[in-house]
Amino acid sequence: MSVLADLDDALAARTDERIVVGVTGPPGSGKTTLARTLTEYYRRLHGDGFVGYLPMDGFHLSNTVLTQLNRSDRKGAPDTFDVDGYVALLSRAIGADRNVYAPGFDHTAGEPIAAALVLPATSALIITEGNYLALDDGGWSPVAGLLTRLYYVDTPANLRRERLLPRHVAAGKSPEGVRDWVANVDEPNAALVAGTRDRADLVIDGTVPLV
Ligand SMILES: Nc1ncnc2c1ncn2[C@@H]1O[C@H](COP(=O)(O)OP(=O)(O)OP(=O)(O)O)[C@@H](O)[C@H]1O
Ligand SMILES: [Mg+2]
Repeated sequence: MSVLADLDDALAARTDERIVVGVTGPPGSGKTTLARTLTEYYRRLHGDGFVGYLPMDGFHLSNTVLTQLNRSDRKGAPDTFDVDGYVALLSRAIGADRNVYAPGFDHTAGEPIAAALVLPATSALIITEGNYLALDDGGWSPVAGLLTRLYYVDTPANLRRERLLPRHVAAGKSPEGVRDWVANVDEPNAALVAGTRDRADLVIDGTVPLV
């Protein structure tokens, strides 16, 4: 089944509750691209007030806190996010009768930005995305229970690495630095995420155009 057909089914079956879609997958698989494409698609179809977009990326710990915790060299690992903050905001967004403001993420600065996004009070659909939505430890386990649908974006490791390369280079890493980061950070995280693939309602091929 295609992602749009599946999501249309979920929306058609909706009563009063919001539909909450989670998009997960390893680093570079295409989560943000899919989540933003779906957000844009449903906004065009039903208006801006129909969809709220909540990326897990906004809950990255700041670089200052990562330094204090001695975790700067593992940025992106499950314990380098404010997991409780994410779970609390997602829960609040699901039941909210007012606009909910959510943090975004500045990829250039590598820092979260407070209140960068608005989840409209009128939204019928919340689209959230990130690596660890289906992890069952480290504080992430409540997330799966909050989702109506979980989609996993599956992309071969070599293509994911190719996609991540420009991002690492733009962040100022040397070729050797990129190799080390991929081996020590991205790939261990990818392996953790791959362990959650079976929990998805739908696995989406991240190598083809999306919708
Ligand atoms: N279906 C697709 N076809 C072609 N290119 C894609 C596709 N999905 C994503 N990409 C490209 O791959 C790169 C990574 O995509 P994206 O940022 O969506 O991945 P991500 O899973 O959100 O990564 P991260 O885990 O780092 O947040 C981007 O340059 C994007 O344009
Ligand atoms: Mg992303």
